[in-house]
Amino acid sequence: MVNMLKKTLALTMVCTSVMLFAACGSDSKQTVTIAHTQVESHPVHVGMVAFKNYIESKLGDKYEVLIYPEARLGANETVIKKVKDNEVQYLIVSTANLEPYDKTYALFGLPYLFSDEAVYEKFISSPKIIHMLAKDAEKNKFEPVAAFTSGTRSFYCKTPIKNLLDLQKKKVRIQAGPVNIAMILAFGAHPFPMSFSEVYGALEKNTIDCAENNEFALIDQKHGELAKYYTYDRHQMSPDFLIASRQFLSSLSADEAKIFSEAAAEAQKTEFASWHSKVALAKEEAVKMGVTFIDIDITEFKEKVLPLRNLVLEEDTSLQELYQEALNFEKQGAETK
Ligand code: GCU
Repeated sequence: MVNMLKKTLALTMVCTSVMLFAACGSDSKQTVTIAHTQVESHPVHVGMVAFKNYIESKLGDKYEVLIYPEARLGANETVIKKVKDNEVQYLIVSTANLEPYDKTYALFGLPYLFSDEAVYEKFISSPKIIHMLAKDAEKNKFEPVAAFTSGTRSFYCKTPIKNLLDLQKKKVRIQAGPVNIAMILAFGAHPFPMSFSEVYGALEKNTIDCAENNEFALIDQKHGELAKYYTYDRHQMSPDFLIASRQFLSSLSADEAKIFSEAAAEAQKTEFASWHSKVALAKEEAVKMGVTFIDIDITEFKEKVLPLRNLVLEEDTSLQELYQEALNFEKQGAETK
């Protein structure tokens, strides 16, 4: 009996020291924290799992990658500040949320900038474009390292929108930003800027009649439970960017930096593939939820907001260079059709 007790004690001690060692081991690893607002089945999360796997397969003895989905670390508007301070190392964020820090991102708010998703995807994933967007990284304290597609944004409402008249005076949730506000006013509706996680509650309380987003928002955020009509007016193609803390990136050795940048490329490739394989399913799910999809002639929508483009470009000449690049991509797209 005494012997058995001794054995158990010895075993417990070994286990405890093994556990301590393991805990010690993981404590000594550097945590890389990633935040985003989407659910775990969303292409953004799938992309970041690929990022995590890549880093941990190459540098797993040094880094542990933790992904916080569903805005668990807070709304993107606040998490951006944490990225700047290197409290969070990576964030997936829409261009609207980046605009207050760097006006160049306002380009993506321009309605009907791209004629189709193929051109838009080529544009956002071009290394030259990311490079142009990264030019003020030092000053901004964050750097875009990968681009994720977010499809096309259209309106969805509690009542069917079949033409511009139907949209008049509707209260519409938008992402913050002067271009978004100007766009909604030009359409004749009332803009209600708020963060993504507030939209469901606002639809529920009738603070808003409509929102605008891609198809995933209907099912992942359950907006389709409350807004039953999705109208394909296709007013914006604005991506999300994976941004990294500058302070974190500059702490990496050259070899590590290369691996982190390969992981970002892996995340981008995976997000695009996941998007393309899931977007039609998202629409099917929304139909099952009772959402009606409405195809319309978008001519009058376009006419209302196209004048905005010159106004924005004249007011902010720093957008010109990127805008010209977008036009070049459009031209090349048209030539290859
Ligand atoms: C899209 C986009 C998100 C963004 C959201 C919004 O889903 O991918 O990054 O936060 O729109 O409308 O706020």
